[in-house]
Amino acid sequence: MMHAMQHSTNKKIRKAILPVAGLGTRFLPATKAQPKEMLPIVDTPIIQFLVEEAVAAGIEEIIFVTGKGKRAIEDHFDYMGELEQVLHAKGKHEEIERLRAISDIAHFSYVRQKTARGDGDAILHAAKLLNGEPVAILFGDDIILHDTPCLSQLVQVFEEKQAPVIALERVPKAKVSSYGIAAGKKVSDRVYDISQIVEKPDPKDAPSNLGIVGKYIVTPEVIDELRHLQPDKSGEIRLADALHAYLTKGNIYGYEFEGMRFDCGSKLGFLMATVEYGLRHNETKKQFSKYLKERMGK
Ligand code: UTP
Repeated sequence: MMHAMQHSTNKKIRKAILPVAGLGTRFLPATKAQPKEMLPIVDTPIIQFLVEEAVAAGIEEIIFVTGKGKRAIEDHFDYMGELEQVLHAKGKHEEIERLRAISDIAHFSYVRQKTARGDGDAILHAAKLLNGEPVAILFGDDIILHDTPCLSQLVQVFEEKQAPVIALERVPKAKVSSYGIAAGKKVSDRVYDISQIVEKPDPKDAPSNLGIVGKYIVTPEVIDELRHLQPDKSGEIRLADALHAYLTKGNIYGYEFEGMRFDCGSKLGFLMATVEYGLRHNETKKQFSKYLKERMGK
């Protein structure tokens, strides 16, 4: 009895898993010897945008699932003694503070996925650190530009529904075959009670054009589904399959987020993000916009 009374029904999201053990095959040769997550948009590595998004949504602990060749990510969120000494000698104290703030922004844990057996397998590697808590999951590619970061938007839905929430974006019909597609009943502004999840459907069979984007909040029950999954045809364990399996047992909500999304794991998405952030960054916006105008006039 005591136990039941102590148990709070409204769970807060305190942890986020950032799986970064993927191979980044769409961005070769850039990702041959460096993690795609460390590619910078103007001056900030993609992974830092994701960590900042998580922290803005109230996340205190970030669990990275890393793999071979991803050491630079750990170093990025660590103190860099030698570099700090050099900056100190040059009197660049503000820069030291700025770099330290990146390391102090959250508590970081690292687990290692030895073989790239899929995003779901990566998540299972982090599951031991969850203690049965719901968790945010951010994949390494999608950066979304908006005043309210995307994960904060999802957290609002989670706080109301206390059920898994996934980020959705309407994609052109011709492109549905590149996405996991969700369909369901619209229950309030931008919120869908999902009834179907289909992986990369043919446009003529797609139940909607709501594409699943790499930002999720999942409950321990979804993690349990992952534990029971068999690998798919390509030998991978996928979060999308666990969500699909969970649909027969509980509700999953989709949220059509507000903001402009860039798939930074693709060449074009990366370029578009660079342009948008270059036009907003204090040090570049004036001259970069002048350059673009001149360039486009040619
Ligand atoms: P992606 O599907 O984007 O795969 O993974 P990828 O390998 O990173 O990139 P491409 O498509 O080959 O260019 C979705 C997320 O899951 C992670 C990735 O790092 C990314 O954040 N992931 C994927 C793992 O951590 N482990 C895996 O085995 C697979």
